Amino acid sequence: MPLIKLDVYGLRNLKSVQLALNPGINLFHGSNGSGKTSLLEAVFLLGRARSFRTRLHQAVIHGEHDQCTVFGLIQHQGASTPIGVTRYRPGGGVFKLAGQAVTTASALADALPLLLINQESFNLLEGSPQHRRRFIDWGVFHVEHSHQQVIQRFQRVLKQRNSLLRHDRIDDAVLSTWDREFELAANAITAARSSYLLLLLPMIQQVLNELSPPLARVDFSLYPGWDDEKKLATVLQADRRRDQQFRTTHHGPHRADLRIRFDRHNAAEVLSRGQLKILAIAMQLAQGFLFHRKTGRHSIYLIDDLAAELDLAHKKVVARLLHDMGAQALITGVDRESLQGLWTDQDIARMRVFHVEHGQIYEEGPDNRE
Ligand SMILES: Nc1ncnc2c1ncn2[C@@H]1O[C@H](COP(=O)(O)OP(=O)(O)OP(=O)(O)O)[C@@H](O)[C@H]1O
Ligand SMILES: [Mg+2]
Repeated sequence: MPLIKLDVYGLRNLKSVQLALNPGINLFHGSNGSGKTSLLEAVFLLGRARSFRTRLHQAVIHGEHDQCTVFGLIQHQGASTPIGVTRYRPGGGVFKLAGQAVTTASALADALPLLLINQESFNLLEGSPQHRRRFIDWGVFHVEHSHQQVIQRFQRVLKQRNSLLRHDRIDDAVLSTWDREFELAANAITAARSSYLLLLLPMIQQVLNELSPPLARVDFSLYPGWDDEKKLATVLQADRRRDQQFRTTHHGPHRADLRIRFDRHNAAEVLSRGQLKILAIAMQLAQGFLFHRKTGRHSIYLIDDLAAELDLAHKKVVARLLHDMGAQALITGVDRESLQGLWTDQDIARMRVFHVEHGQIYEEGPDNRE
């Protein structure tokens, strides 16, 4: 499902950019502040209705403009589907898919599955459990769409339970009714997360075997959000007094985590920066492989500054894996030679190479790439 056309208007320093993209790999090089990350941000906005850099739409909108718009054409089985997102400075926005207005970001995400590899990828290992929950739920959602409803149902129950806990006088029977709902929804989420990981973990191991065999020793385990030796109902019962005192639910899938260990230590505490980056990349490449295997579709990779933190040998393996995967990728780097040097001349000839300069993006033909 590659994006074959991309138009960006009024997003950061990209005032007006129209690009024809390669369904395979696209390279973007340009100096600091030229607009490379902004371009990836534009694609991300198209697939998620939000930025990956900020929660504030205002920061993304160019200078004094009152809106930004990204438009694309997604190619699928010989046909192309238009997709568009506009964000307004005062707030709100319009999302469109195949000419129809859509109201949820998940409709965009389904049409344009994206995997982002950038500095934030370290959060997969070093960040809060929320990052790892999102990582797992991305995979579950894209393989099994009904997961979105399962999560929404759980969130409604959690909200309801927490608001009940905020009352001064709580009817135990009412709370017990919500506990039963809570347990049902929690078990459904946990089952979906576990079966996804059962498929994903061997794939991560496989990618690590290619990228960095010593890292394949890394060990992953799902903490469901409570001591799973016990039934959640028992845990909720035991927590009841504390939950009431703090007016919040202490255990459940909203507290789940993917525990990542290397030689029995928390991986984030013992691996080097480069190794952490390799591990994060392997996790995301494996997600793309699994998504393709389960759905026959490819996600689009947005890779900001591929060169950062990795040595040449590792960069080359990542480059080869991306190339062999056949997915569309938009890859940025400051320096053209070091980006192009990761593939053979033959591979490069099949890619599109763009120069980003002061918010303008120019495609470089094979003749002016040297
Ligand atoms: N709302 C905005 N309006 C106009 N320009 C903006 C806005 N927000 C950011 N910019 C500018 O957009 C330019 C492009 O930023 P971007 O992060 O895309 O650069 P980059 O090419 O990724 O640079 P680097 O190599 O340093 O990562 C910067 O000069 C930045 O100051
Ligand atoms: Mg950047």
